[in-house]
Amino acid sequence: MDSNDVESDLKHVLFSKEQIQQRVNELAAEIDADYQGREILLVGVLKGAVMVMADLARALHSHITMDWMAVSSYGSGTQSSGVVRILKDLETDLMGKHVLIAEDIIDSGLTLSWLKANLLSRGPASVEICTLLRKPDAAKVDIDVKYVGFNIPNEFVVGYGLDFAEKYRNLDFIGTLAPHVYE
Ligand code: XMP
Ligand code: MG
Repeated sequence: MDSNDVESDLKHVLFSKEQIQQRVNELAAEIDADYQGREILLVGVLKGAVMVMADLARALHSHITMDWMAVSSYGSGTQSSGVVRILKDLETDLMGKHVLIAEDIIDSGLTLSWLKANLLSRGPASVEICTLLRKPDAAKVDIDVKYVGFNIPNEFVVGYGLDFAEKYRNLDFIGTLAPHVYE
Protein backbone atom coordinates (compact mmCIF):
# COMPACT_ATOMS: atom_id res chain seq x y z
CA MET A 1 0.00 0.00 0.00
CA ASP A 2 1.33 3.41 -0.97
CA SER A 3 1.45 5.90 1.93
CA ASN A 4 -0.62 8.30 -0.21
CA ASP A 5 -3.41 5.76 -0.61
CA VAL A 6 -6.64 6.63 1.18
CA GLU A 7 -6.40 3.31 3.04
CA SER A 8 -3.41 4.61 5.01
CA ASP A 9 -5.70 7.22 6.64
CA LEU A 10 -7.82 4.52 8.27
CA LYS A 11 -7.36 3.23 11.80
CA HIS A 12 -9.32 0.05 11.51
CA VAL A 13 -11.94 -1.66 9.40
CA LEU A 14 -15.35 -1.94 11.02
CA PHE A 15 -17.12 -3.73 8.18
CA SER A 16 -15.46 -5.27 5.13
CA LYS A 17 -16.84 -5.06 1.61
CA GLU A 18 -18.02 -8.68 1.97
CA GLN A 19 -19.77 -8.05 5.31
CA ILE A 20 -21.56 -5.01 3.88
CA GLN A 21 -22.65 -6.87 0.76
CA GLN A 22 -23.96 -9.79 2.77
CA ARG A 23 -25.94 -7.54 5.15
CA VAL A 24 -27.38 -5.47 2.30
CA ASN A 25 -28.48 -8.67 0.57
CA GLU A 26 -30.16 -9.83 3.79
CA LEU A 27 -31.98 -6.51 4.14
CA ALA A 28 -33.14 -6.72 0.53
CA ALA A 29 -34.54 -10.22 1.09
CA GLU A 30 -36.43 -8.96 4.17
CA ILE A 31 -37.79 -5.99 2.22
CA ASP A 32 -38.87 -8.16 -0.74
CA ALA A 33 -40.73 -10.47 1.66
CA ASP A 34 -42.44 -7.56 3.46
CA TYR A 35 -43.63 -5.72 0.35
CA GLN A 36 -44.93 -8.85 -1.38
CA GLY A 37 -44.74 -7.60 -4.93
CA ARG A 38 -45.85 -4.06 -4.23
CA GLU A 39 -43.85 -1.38 -6.03
CA ILE A 40 -41.42 0.54 -3.84
CA LEU A 41 -40.18 4.11 -4.27
CA LEU A 42 -36.63 4.16 -2.90
CA VAL A 43 -35.70 7.62 -1.64
CA GLY A 44 -31.97 8.16 -1.22
CA VAL A 45 -30.65 10.93 0.95
CA LEU A 46 -27.68 12.56 -0.78
CA LYS A 47 -24.84 12.17 -0.65
CA GLY A 48 -24.12 9.55 1.98
CA ALA A 49 -26.75 7.06 0.80
CA VAL A 50 -25.48 6.65 -2.78
CA MET A 51 -23.67 3.35 -2.12
CA VAL A 52 -26.50 1.85 -0.04
CA MET A 53 -29.01 2.89 -2.71
CA ALA A 54 -26.98 1.38 -5.54
CA ASP A 55 -26.40 -1.94 -3.77
CA LEU A 56 -29.84 -2.24 -2.16
CA ALA A 57 -31.59 -1.42 -5.44
CA ARG A 58 -29.63 -4.12 -7.26
CA ALA A 59 -30.30 -6.71 -4.55
CA LEU A 60 -34.08 -6.17 -4.56
CA HIS A 61 -36.37 -8.27 -6.72
CA SER A 62 -39.41 -6.01 -6.16
CA HIS A 63 -40.32 -3.42 -8.77
CA ILE A 64 -38.73 -0.18 -7.65
CA THR A 65 -38.29 3.40 -8.74
CA MET A 66 -35.63 5.70 -7.30
CA ASP A 67 -35.58 9.34 -6.36
CA TRP A 68 -33.19 11.55 -4.40
CA MET A 69 -33.34 14.27 -1.81
CA ALA A 70 -30.65 16.50 -0.40
CA VAL A 71 -31.17 18.08 2.99
CA SER A 72 -29.02 20.09 5.32
CA SER A 73 -29.45 20.08 9.02
CA TYR A 74 -28.90 23.36 10.85
CA GLY A 75 -26.85 23.02 13.98
CA SER A 76 -23.74 24.03 15.83
CA GLY A 77 -20.67 22.09 14.72
CA THR A 78 -21.24 18.39 14.30
CA GLN A 79 -24.44 18.24 16.36
CA SER A 80 -27.57 18.17 14.24
CA SER A 81 -30.43 20.32 15.51
CA GLY A 82 -33.43 18.73 13.89
CA VAL A 83 -34.11 21.92 11.91
CA VAL A 84 -33.79 20.78 8.34
CA ARG A 85 -33.63 22.62 5.03
CA ILE A 86 -34.41 20.90 1.72
CA LEU A 87 -31.57 21.54 -0.75
CA LYS A 88 -32.99 19.25 -3.43
CA ASP A 89 -36.53 17.95 -3.33
CA LEU A 90 -38.00 14.79 -4.85
CA GLU A 91 -39.30 14.85 -8.42
CA THR A 92 -41.88 12.16 -7.65
CA ASP A 93 -45.46 12.67 -6.44
CA LEU A 94 -45.72 10.48 -3.33
CA MET A 95 -49.50 10.10 -3.40
CA GLY A 96 -50.35 6.42 -2.83
CA LYS A 97 -46.70 5.28 -3.08
CA HIS A 98 -44.84 2.89 -0.78
CA VAL A 99 -41.82 4.98 0.16
CA LEU A 100 -38.66 3.46 1.55
CA ILE A 101 -36.00 5.93 2.68
CA ALA A 102 -32.46 4.60 2.23
CA GLU A 103 -29.88 6.07 4.59
CA ASP A 104 -26.23 5.50 5.33
CA ILE A 105 -26.30 6.32 9.03
CA ILE A 106 -28.61 7.49 11.79
CA ASP A 107 -26.85 9.37 14.55
CA SER A 108 -29.18 11.57 16.63
CA GLY A 109 -32.08 10.55 14.40
CA LEU A 110 -33.28 14.16 14.22
CA THR A 111 -32.76 14.56 10.47
CA LEU A 112 -34.61 11.37 9.64
CA SER A 113 -37.45 11.97 12.05
CA TRP A 114 -38.04 15.34 10.35
CA LEU A 115 -37.74 13.75 6.91
CA LYS A 116 -40.18 10.96 7.67
CA ALA A 117 -42.80 13.44 8.91
CA ASN A 118 -42.25 15.60 5.86
CA LEU A 119 -42.74 12.69 3.43
CA LEU A 120 -45.76 11.39 5.37
CA SER A 121 -47.48 14.75 4.84
CA ARG A 122 -47.42 14.17 1.05
CA GLY A 123 -50.03 11.38 1.04
CA PRO A 124 -47.97 8.20 0.50
CA ALA A 125 -49.40 4.75 1.22
CA SER A 126 -46.49 4.13 3.62
CA VAL A 127 -43.08 5.46 4.65
CA GLU A 128 -40.41 3.17 6.09
CA ILE A 129 -36.71 3.63 6.74
CA CYS A 130 -33.73 1.44 5.88
CA THR A 131 -30.37 2.48 7.28
CA LEU A 132 -27.09 0.64 6.96
CA LEU A 133 -25.73 1.97 10.26
CA ARG A 134 -27.28 3.19 13.50
CA LYS A 135 -25.49 4.87 16.40
CA PRO A 136 -26.67 4.52 20.03
CA ASP A 137 -27.99 8.12 20.32
CA ALA A 138 -30.73 7.28 17.80
CA ALA A 139 -32.49 5.44 20.62
CA LYS A 140 -33.25 8.82 22.26
CA VAL A 141 -35.56 9.86 19.43
CA ASP A 142 -38.93 8.19 18.94
CA ILE A 143 -38.41 7.07 15.38
CA ASP A 144 -39.38 3.70 13.99
CA VAL A 145 -36.57 2.37 11.77
CA LYS A 146 -37.76 -0.85 10.21
CA TYR A 147 -34.52 -2.00 8.58
CA VAL A 148 -31.11 -1.60 10.26
CA GLY A 149 -27.92 -3.06 8.85
CA PHE A 150 -25.58 -2.72 11.82
CA ASN A 151 -25.72 -1.02 15.21
CA ILE A 152 -22.36 0.64 15.82
CA PRO A 153 -20.63 2.35 18.77
CA ASN A 154 -20.51 6.13 18.99
CA GLU A 155 -17.43 6.55 16.78
CA PHE A 156 -16.99 8.62 13.64
CA VAL A 157 -16.91 6.30 10.65
CA VAL A 158 -16.12 6.78 6.96
CA GLY A 159 -16.37 4.83 3.73
CA TYR A 160 -19.15 3.31 1.63
CA GLY A 161 -20.73 6.75 1.12
CA LEU A 162 -19.75 8.25 4.47
CA ASP A 163 -17.30 11.13 4.41
CA PHE A 164 -14.88 13.20 6.40
CA ALA A 165 -14.61 16.62 4.70
CA GLU A 166 -16.17 15.02 1.57
CA LYS A 167 -13.41 12.40 1.31
CA TYR A 168 -13.44 8.60 1.82
CA ARG A 169 -16.94 8.13 0.34
CA ASN A 170 -15.43 5.88 -2.33
CA LEU A 171 -14.07 3.22 0.04
CA ASP A 172 -15.84 -0.11 -0.40
CA PHE A 173 -15.54 -0.83 3.34
CA ILE A 174 -16.42 1.13 6.50
CA GLY A 175 -13.73 2.12 8.96
CA THR A 176 -12.58 4.62 11.53
CA LEU A 177 -10.06 7.36 10.74
CA ALA A 178 -6.51 7.40 12.05
CA PRO A 179 -5.93 10.34 14.43
CA HIS A 180 -3.32 11.96 12.12
CA VAL A 181 -6.15 12.76 9.69
CA TYR A 182 -8.20 15.01 11.97
CA GLU A 183 -5.66 16.15 14.61
P1 XMP B 1 -28.67 12.84 12.63
O1 XMP B 1 -29.75 13.86 12.44
O2 XMP B 1 -29.18 11.43 12.71
O3 XMP B 1 -27.73 13.01 11.39
O4 XMP B 1 -27.79 13.18 13.82
C1 XMP B 1 -27.21 11.97 10.66
C2 XMP B 1 -26.20 12.54 9.71
O5 XMP B 1 -24.99 12.87 10.43
C3 XMP B 1 -23.86 12.52 9.70
N1 XMP B 1 -23.06 11.55 10.47
C4 XMP B 1 -21.93 10.95 10.06
N2 XMP B 1 -21.26 11.03 8.91
N3 XMP B 1 -19.65 9.49 9.75
C5 XMP B 1 -20.11 10.29 8.76
O6 XMP B 1 -19.48 10.33 7.71
C6 XMP B 1 -20.28 9.35 10.93
O7 XMP B 1 -19.82 8.61 11.80
C7 XMP B 1 -21.48 10.13 11.10
N4 XMP B 1 -22.36 10.24 12.13
C8 XMP B 1 -23.31 11.13 11.70
C9 XMP B 1 -24.38 11.96 8.40
O8 XMP B 1 -24.37 12.99 7.44
C10 XMP B 1 -25.79 11.53 8.68
O9 XMP B 1 -26.62 11.57 7.55
MG1 MG C 1 -26.49 11.16 5.37
